[in-house]
This record gives sequence, structure tokens and C-alpha cells, in this order.
Amino acid sequence: MSVIRPRPPEDPIRYDAAAVFATGGFSAADVSALAPRLEQARADALADVGRFTSGVGRGGDPLDPAFIDLPDRLLAAYHADRPTSELFAILQTARRIREAVDRVIVLGIGGSYMGTRALFEACCHPFHNELPRGERGGRPRLSFEGFNIDNDSAQGLLDVVAPAGKPRSDDLLDRWALLVVSKSGGTLETAVATRLFLAALAESVGGDRDRLASRLVPITGKTGRLADLAGAIGCPDVFDIPDGVGGRFSVLTAVGLLPASIVGIDVVRLLEGAAAMNRRFREAPVADNPVLQFVAVSHLAEERMHATIRVLSSWSNRLEATGLWYDQLLSESLGKGGQGATPLTTVTTRDLHSRGQQHQEGRRDKLITNLLVEEPRRDPLTLPPLGAFGADEDKLDDLVGRSWPAMLAAAAAGTNEAYAHDRRPTADIVLPRIDEHAVGQLLQMLMLATVVEGRLVGTNPYGQPGVEAYKSLMMKRLRP
Ligand code: PA5
Repeated sequence: MSVIRPRPPEDPIRYDAAAVFATGGFSAADVSALAPRLEQARADALADVGRFTSGVGRGGDPLDPAFIDLPDRLLAAYHADRPTSELFAILQTARRIREAVDRVIVLGIGGSYMGTRALFEACCHPFHNELPRGERGGRPRLSFEGFNIDNDSAQGLLDVVAPAGKPRSDDLLDRWALLVVSKSGGTLETAVATRLFLAALAESVGGDRDRLASRLVPITGKTGRLADLAGAIGCPDVFDIPDGVGGRFSVLTAVGLLPASIVGIDVVRLLEGAAAMNRRFREAPVADNPVLQFVAVSHLAEERMHATIRVLSSWSNRLEATGLWYDQLLSESLGKGGQGATPLTTVTTRDLHSRGQQHQEGRRDKLITNLLVEEPRRDPLTLPPLGAFGADEDKLDDLVGRSWPAMLAAAAAGTNEAYAHDRRPTADIVLPRIDEHAVGQLLQMLMLATVVEGRLVGTNPYGQPGVEAYKSLMMKRLRP
């Protein structure tokens, strides 16, 4: 028997804006005319990495560009000297946690949890948490908390992991662990949830400090309250969110990679996908560069067609959380100084029955970017006959044998045709399939596009000064 495994596919994702140009709002020639500015913005975004590393010319502005070459650096270190690499440490801890518990709770907010959710929903079984452990391949369930201050949802999760009145059990299926993610280490939502779930975890390990420490994995900046707490408890594994990587750009650090690996996502392929996108971004000319084309079309649609709302229309349920992650990325990065488009994620066809009317006939302020997937991961379902239950009362006999992908493709083509008919600008990002390699490409493409657009329009994409206002006013009320 051959020991050579076939190499999994690495097809590139594509960006196609032909239907935007067809509206007449602007043309491919306008994109070409923007090329010198796009090239400059790309150079500026890449120069940020050098400015950050050398410390020269940093000034006082927030600067978090280290996400850009991070996938390349993580992979290079892993291939050069595996046992000392960060990725190896992540994989080792993932294995330890995977074997020790049946549920992992990620506590974090904003950039400290949305990327993990995106990876989980895109790459895992859609009903991962509902499958028995064996069918999950021995991987724990994954839950999220600490992204709000919602009394009933926190109570609900406590009901699941620490049911009142149930005697303590050390059965593997009852064991759980906490990953606490906060770069600053002081975000209130995450910090109060940490106290709450730490108390429940301590109870579940019978107050045993070593076991408590081994079930808590903090992922945080080098210093701060969470780092202090990790030290006080004596956690054996603590992961760093590197300097120069901001929360919303941290999905490919331990923030996303550790939980992803725990639930069985191939994080090496994820990083390889991101590194492949980096190569295209750095090397491809504007006309063939998915990042620069996406930036150009989004920017020109805003300038020339007043498309200040950017709808990311996912044609797969599994990419909804990726869209929500991108909403946060774009809003916090470019929504500054009275500028910045408003992102909006939709899932189609679901939302054609809620927002479709407005997108077809409402105000002309939207650019729709479809997230299309060329092939499903599972065998296509086909419409079965009604059988002995009836005689075509539902009038679907003529569609018997049609596949789910074929019906979805008809819906996508029909929707795009309807938008084109009304000159609604519609572009496509096409994924060959939803797997780690494609998702890695997509996440890196969207992060790169966000910072390039920032440099193009003169908005610093790093930092989120506006969020501080609510925080300080909230704390004034809590600690008058
Ligand atoms: O992108 C960002 O920086 C934010 O969304 C943060 O991730 C979010 O505010 C959470 O911050 P922290 O990780 O410090 O708890």
C-alpha cells in the first residue's frame, strides 16, 4: 500500500468584478487608472511592517502590521526547528487539552473571539457540538462566552458545564477547560466572565490548584491583568498575542490557532493558505491581484456610486461568522474621522427573504460582494421523490434528482441577473471549496485589503480610539 498521501488541493480563490463594471458606474479602465495609488498603498502597508520591526518612523500612532508576514514567519519557524516553534507549542497544548476535556469555552470579545468563531463555523462539522465525542473524532465541543454581559446566556452555559445539584464528576465527557483571550488583559466583559467561569471550574476540579491551572489557558499580551492572573494561578501554558498584532488581526496567532487546533482544524493548511495569499498580494500586478482589485472596486464604488454600504453576501451558512468577523475588521479599522463604509453580512438565500427587497429596489447605496463556493464538501444531496406518500401534491416531481448545489447555483445566477438588470453593483469572491487552505486565503485577503484601503484613503487602520468612550463612561458608572 502506498504511504504517499495525495496532496490536498490548493486552488486559489478568485475575485471578479465584471458585473460591477457592467452597471456603467465605473469601468475596468478606472481601476487601471488607480493602479499607481494602489501600488503605493500596498508599498505603504508593507513598509508598516518594516517601520514596526525597526521602530524607525513609528511616531505615536497605533501600528499593528505584524499580522502581515505572521503566517510566513510561523511556518518558517515550524519547518526550520519544529520543537522550538510557536506553532509546535500550540499543537502540543491543543493535543493536551483535546485529550483531557470534552468541552472548551473560549472567553473573549471582538477580535479576541470572532476569528475563532469564523474558523469553527467554516471548517468544522456544522453540528460539531451536537455530535457524540466519537463522531467528533475525539475533539471537544467549543462554546463562547465573555463577548457580552448577558446574564441569562452566561447562566445557560453554566447550566451546561456545572449543572446545579449534579454531583461532581471526573468523567472525560464532563470535563471542560477555559481559554481566556484578551490582548489587553483588562476588558471588562471578558474579565468578569473569567471570574465567573473560573469559580465553576475550580468547583469542578474539587478545588485542586494544579488541575485548575492545567484547565485554564490564557492567551494575552506579555503584561496585564490576565497575564498576572495566569502567573498567580500557575498556568502551565500561556500564549502570547505578539506586539504588533491587534485584536481584529489576531486570528492567525494562538488566539485562533489554538482553539482551531483543539477542535481538529488543520492550522498548518490554514497558514499555508494565508501565506499563498501573501505571495499573490506582494507579487501580482494590480490587474491580477485579488487584494488590490477588491480594494479598488470597493473604493471606487463608494466614491463614484455612493455605495457606502458593503454587503458581504455569503452563499454558505458556514461563512456567516466569517462575514461577522469581517464586519468588525472593516468597521473598527476604517470607521474613523467621519469616514468608512458600513459593512453588512448576509446569508443567501436566507436573507433574500428578509433583505432582498431592499437590496433589489432600495436606496442605491450598496455594493454587494458575493462569497461563492464552487463545490460543497459533502456529496451533493438530490431531491427525492415523494414516494408512496402522495402524487406530486407539492408539484416538485419535475425537480426530482436536482441537486442542492444545482438549486443554489440557480438561485445565485438568478439573483445576480436580477441585480444586473437593475444596475445594482455586484462582485464575486469565489472559493473553490470551504477548507482550511481557502479559508486561510480569504481571511488574509480581507485583512490585507482592509489595511491597504486604509493607506489608500489616509485612515490609520490600526487602533480603535472610538471604543474607549463607552468603556470609560461604563467604568465611571461602575466605579463612581
Ligand atoms: O480589534 C480589536 O482590537 C478589538 O476588537 C479587541 O479585540 C477587543 O476590544 C477585545 O480587546 P482585548 O483583546 O484587549 O480584550
